[in-house]
Amino acid sequence: MFEPSVSVGFLHDGTLSTEQEAAIRWARGVGYDVDDVEFQGADSAREFAAYDVLWWHRDAPLDEEWGSDAGGDAVESALHDGGRLLLSLRGMAAVDAFGVDDVPPNDVGTGSITEPTGVLWKAIHDDHPAVEAFDSLRVPICEHGAVPYARYEGQLPNRGEVLASTVRGEHDLPNQVSVVSWEVGTDGAVIGVGAPLAFDEPTSDHVAHRRDAFAAGLVNALADDGTDHPSRPLDRDDLRTVRRELSDDLRPSAHLTPPANWLNDPNGVVEWNGRYHVFYQYNPGGPFHDAIHWGHAVSDDLVRWEDEPVALTPSPDGPDRDGCWSGCAIDDDGVATILYTGGRDRAQLPCLATADDDDLRTWRKHHDNPIIDEPPSDLDVLETDHWEAEFRDHNVWFEDERWHQVIGTGVTDVGGAVLLYTSEDLRDWRYEGPVLVGESETSGTVWECPEILDLGDADLLHVSNYEDVRYFLGTFADGSFHVDREGLLDHGDFYAPQSMDDGDRYLTWGWLTEARDVSAQWDAGWSGAMSLPRVLDLGSDGRLRQRPAEEVRELRERRLDVPDQLDLDSGDCTDLDVGGRSLELDLTIRLDDADSVSLTVLEAPDGEERTPIRYTRDGRLVLDRTASSVDHRASTDSLEMRVPPYDEPLSLRAFVDGSVVELYANERHCMTGRVYPTRSDSTGVSLSAQGGSATVSSLAGWELGSIWAATDTAAEPTAPRR
Ligand code: FRU
Repeated sequence: MFEPSVSVGFLHDGTLSTEQEAAIRWARGVGYDVDDVEFQGADSAREFAAYDVLWWHRDAPLDEEWGSDAGGDAVESALHDGGRLLLSLRGMAAVDAFGVDDVPPNDVGTGSITEPTGVLWKAIHDDHPAVEAFDSLRVPICEHGAVPYARYEGQLPNRGEVLASTVRGEHDLPNQVSVVSWEVGTDGAVIGVGAPLAFDEPTSDHVAHRRDAFAAGLVNALADDGTDHPSRPLDRDDLRTVRRELSDDLRPSAHLTPPANWLNDPNGVVEWNGRYHVFYQYNPGGPFHDAIHWGHAVSDDLVRWEDEPVALTPSPDGPDRDGCWSGCAIDDDGVATILYTGGRDRAQLPCLATADDDDLRTWRKHHDNPIIDEPPSDLDVLETDHWEAEFRDHNVWFEDERWHQVIGTGVTDVGGAVLLYTSEDLRDWRYEGPVLVGESETSGTVWECPEILDLGDADLLHVSNYEDVRYFLGTFADGSFHVDREGLLDHGDFYAPQSMDDGDRYLTWGWLTEARDVSAQWDAGWSGAMSLPRVLDLGSDGRLRQRPAEEVRELRERRLDVPDQLDLDSGDCTDLDVGGRSLELDLTIRLDDADSVSLTVLEAPDGEERTPIRYTRDGRLVLDRTASSVDHRASTDSLEMRVPPYDEPLSLRAFVDGSVVELYANERHCMTGRVYPTRSDSTGVSLSAQGGSATVSSLAGWELGSIWAATDTAAEPTAPRR
């Protein structure tokens, strides 16, 4: 795999450090044809063009004057002529000077390494030649020493595609982005490696072998014209490819997920120009929460969806530099407008942007963001380690000739709260006061993502309090909310929902959080899903109803051959002749004299993995995850909710889709859980009664199709790496 014919121009600024000398020795040892080349040569651009790969292995700090005078311009023009550049140690810190990216790494320094440390490679790029020698996504390259580094943390390059973060010892550190790829011009390419790629430090053979294979993989990848050098932003074709490559048994196909990387809250959900848009909190850097952008998916009919390129990106000089957090979309007299939370350092403040096109692909940020400069001064807004004030997330509507906005917050020593603002023009806002303030012991210290919906006979306010989504039914009048009833919108892995009014109904999506650890999410290459679109309204009894939108029925692809009715005796277990990873199962359960009835899904033939959904006589619905997966990285905590006895018999709609189990009980109570069976034969479905006999009626099931219009073809199955 080494390419001895590769010529390497080893850049330096006059004198070689011992580390640089060690790197040259290593490269010559491999067989590369290495010249050391000074940046400042009269003819450097032409000289640079003579090499297959330029390598700047910079261990000394970049001083203030370093930049174009020192040869940056010559490197830049070499890249535009198709040159290839490897930047290691602190070298990546010069990407702005080389005109490669306007956002350089924001964390550059020297790290003390005391245990095997290296790259945590992204699953979506596991075919990159730099890592082809390894069967793992975790590659230690250094064991000891004080080693310079350049990383992105909390920010991302603007144009570079992240290839890897950091692994230290047993710990995955996804937030420390250490390897980035750029395409420059039509044929130029740069790989920045801010990971500890050091050749002059004492290292065991085991780690040195990996370091050497990795370094050679980088040089070869750059030298080889056949290598694809990913860059951002990804266009729609790229997104299709990415989604196709990252599909496996646990990836839902009937629920929205990110094409790759990280998703959290739904944002700016809106029907615009006859199309449904769901934006979402998205980290293009990998499947972890950081450097949040707005991802985007679009649908004509709520059934089939397509990925759109990233819609909103943090501005390096803006109040949203560290993240474009949650917000909503509004129709401002024909202008699609979003309000979102910008984060920078310890501040989080509301920002506004307007759409530049009817497809809502490009957004122009308001010149005077943030539009509210600080939280209300007459309220003791909670300060935490991270934030000088917990103050974020927006829901905006027009009423009584004015715009109304609610923002989530917390009041010190009191509890979560929702604040009301009003405005004539969406840009100047007046603080009106708290809409509702909770008690921290019972309902949390901070309320995120508040939303007020007019359900006709009652108003609904919901807030997310880090644990649950609490809703209040009552009356919103004169700036405050009078609560008549309260509950949880969903009793499982569901958070930060957002709704759109599409004429005659509210459609609500919630973020289905993962229930497996950070490393498992890293290995999957994607994280987070949306619930099905739910219709929220009031039943004739004045209570909240929740149902999947009617359109979801159109996903039913094949009706399953199951009996319409089953009489279950105590201990009976009836296997249904169904399989597959994306199913809808509808049924009505009458307990008769049974203690409980279980609908078990995702069951292996020997029962090693199984997920029973149990309806019990004492009025509970339990999603039993104790044996859902043999992967110790998946949660084994069971979920449960009360479905009071007056709900008998229980009518249940269960959606089982990859790692999602989304349950609707009596069109009223929701519980969604994430489960991660590992075995390809964990697809069985059965019904059983315990402690007596029971009746199941109106049983029906369907295999569900994929919502991804363009990605129906199954991915090539590849063995996952860890
Ligand atoms: C809720 C939340 C919001 C915030 C966003 C950041 O999950 O914490 O409060 O705006 O996510 O991604």
